[in-house]
Amino acid sequence: MAILPILEAPHPVLAAKARTVREEEFNDKLEAFLADMAETMYAAPGVGLAAPQVGDGRRIIVVDSGVADAEDGSGLLKMVNPKILARSEATIEWDETCLSVPELTVTVDRHRHITVEWFSHTGERFEQEFHDFEAVIIQHEMDHLIGTVLLDRVSRFRRSRYLKKVSKLKRQAAH
Ligand code: NI
Repeated sequence: MAILPILEAPHPVLAAKARTVREEEFNDKLEAFLADMAETMYAAPGVGLAAPQVGDGRRIIVVDSGVADAEDGSGLLKMVNPKILARSEATIEWDETCLSVPELTVTVDRHRHITVEWFSHTGERFEQEFHDFEAVIIQHEMDHLIGTVLLDRVSRFRRSRYLKKVSKLKRQAAH
């Protein structure tokens, strides 16, 4: 297992649309990559991570709403080719943060209940309904698969102010 470096916005991989994992890619290598993603998420610590955040442009996410102390992996979801099959009309507002957009919190309106289909590394199909915080995280991670990050959800003014702040912090860190 390995902790992978997390990309920060703006970055071309974060802005690109992820591709479907192909049939021949369901193998031990995919299993190892999912384990690395989970380890990277727990180490951050975070509650979700999408493959583009570690520079891999495929439709893969890991989620654990139990926050970082559930390191036994009991609440861990490893989703390959996730797809939302149904969304509730009811929405929920959440103050979201993202490992790829440090220091930014954005209030986002999400579907409160979603039904998701996904595959394991062996190609086994799963389908489950998720609610509230778990549904919010999954929708956030799935945004990454279409190249959308929190920074794309704020005004142009807030975006440019954020980018200035981040480049200043990076300059300070370099000195
Ligand atoms: Ni994110």
